[in-house]
Formats: sequence, structure tokens, C-alpha cells
Amino acid sequence: MSSAQVYLDGHFLPLTEARVSVEDRGFLFGDGVYEVLRASAGRLYEEEAHWRRLASSCREVALTLPEGLPAGGLRALALELLARNGLGEGEATVYLQLTRGAAPRTHHFPPPGTRPTLYLSAAAFAPPWEARTRGVQAITLPDVRWSRCNIKSINLLPNTLAKQRAREAGAAEAVFVRDGVLTEGASTTVFAVLDGALVTHPNGPHILPGVTRDVVLALARAAGIPVHERPLRLEEREHFDELFVASTTLDLAPVVALDGQPVGAGRPGPVTRALQQAFYAAQGVTPPTLG
Ligand code: PDD
Repeated sequence: MSSAQVYLDGHFLPLTEARVSVEDRGFLFGDGVYEVLRASAGRLYEEEAHWRRLASSCREVALTLPEGLPAGGLRALALELLARNGLGEGEATVYLQLTRGAAPRTHHFPPPGTRPTLYLSAAAFAPPWEARTRGVQAITLPDVRWSRCNIKSINLLPNTLAKQRAREAGAAEAVFVRDGVLTEGASTTVFAVLDGALVTHPNGPHILPGVTRDVVLALARAAGIPVHERPLRLEEREHFDELFVASTTLDLAPVVALDGQPVGAGRPGPVTRALQQAFYAAQGVTPPTLG
């Protein structure tokens, strides 16, 4: 099989030939932002929402896209990348990263005219049906992140450390807790069901405004499920009838145990299942039996 193709700084090239300067500010400072999109049969899922969030991340950190992108912009690059990788059919993910470019190391911004580094890759994606169907375990950890979590920054050290802790605990996700409040997972939005209502942390500086989050909230409202965007306190845990996490790659996955204790009945609950069904129905996808 030929090598995967990526896009870097204006060119499509084999992954094995892609090189970024060691002076790149992404490498030296984590000075960059990113997005992860899902593609199905060559179509990007919720792409407008991803481009909007990317624009917002860029604005927040004063980053701009490099000049000279093709007329179709990032969308055209992503679609061409999928095609070049033979991913025009089936399931795939597209990763996009933008950094402030390569320049001699100074904390403040590099000289005007420094070209931002734009990188895109695409990969075949095996949907995690087991997690979606049977549910996952999660642990809670203190949210030691900064107060601008609405920016999809490539600074993911707290997230990688939390994911590793989860893995070592035999769990799939770590849920961050800030001042007694469940904010979000290390790479997911967190939802709880209490008394038939769906509860999730409000958007703001303490969570990433998840693309899947918006989809789930809209589906819940359309289904007549009461929705409360409010801080979800860990001390309410006893009242969680259901808990689930959601993201672009996971879709919705029930959390059946938190810190080793069953959530609700300890198995995927009816509201989560109804939202999963609605999620796939909206996309015209027939999922394997969700149980
Ligand atoms: N993660 N919260 C955090 C901290 C995330 O990193 C993500 C996504 C989400 C869910 O957002 P969305 O529904 O837009 O994917 C919430 C991606 C998938 C990642 O880092 O790989």
C-alpha cells in the first residue's frame, strides 16, 4: 500500500516525507490550535460547526490561516486529502493543526510575516461500537487546566495525563472536576440524566464548545427531553440516573461506572439509548443493535 498522504504548508505529500522545523512554535511552545472532523462516504460531518470553532480558536489566540489557500479553503483541502488517501468511501477522520509557524524562539509572537504552519492528515476510522453499545468506565480527576478551555489548543498535557490515569485505572475516560463541578471529559463532553432531564455544563471558559454537544442538545430538545445547561456537581452523583460522554469520534457512549461505582442501574439507560437512536436516525445510519 502506498504511504498515507498529508497536507503541509501548501503541498500534498507522503506522510513519511512531511517535515516541520524544530523551531516551529507548535513544537517549542504548543502555540497552535486544532480540529478533529469525521467524514463519512467523503462527506464531512457538521463541518460548518468545526470551521466556526476553528475560527473562534484562531481569534482567541490571534492566529490566522496562511495565505494562498485554494478557493474552496479548508473544506477543499480536507476533501482532496480524503480522496488522495482513498477515503472517499467509508469512515474517516481528518485532523487539522495550525501553529504560529517557525521562528527563532521568543515567547512573544514571531516577526510579522512568519508563515503559520498548516497541517492536515486523514485516517480510516473504525467506529468504537463496543463503547457505544456496552458503555465505558470513567474516573474523576481534578481539573487542573487553564481557564480558556473553550480554545481548542494543542496544549493537551493535562488531557494526556488524565487519559493515561484513566487507562491505568482500566477506564476509557477521565472526567475533570473543578471546584466540585464536573466540567468535561479529557476528550469528551459529559452529560448526566437526572429525573428524566439532560444536564450538561454550560459553554464558557471551562469547557470546549463541543460540536457533538450541540447536536445532542438539539436532538434532546426535539425529543421533548428537558435540557439544563448548568454546573453538574459531583455531590449530585447519587442522583445520576444515567451518564454519558460525547465527541466527534465517540458519538455518544454511556458511562456505566464512575470511579468504580455503578452509575444508575450500571448499564446504558433509556435516555442515552433514545438519544443514540435519534443521533443515528438523523444521519440515516443504521447502527448495530444498541441493546
Ligand atoms: N476531542 N471536550 C474536549 C476537551 C475535547 O477534546 C473534545 C473533542 C470534546 C468533544 O468535542 P466534539 O464533539 O466537537 O468532538 C470535548 C477531539 C475529538 C480530540 O481531541 O481528539
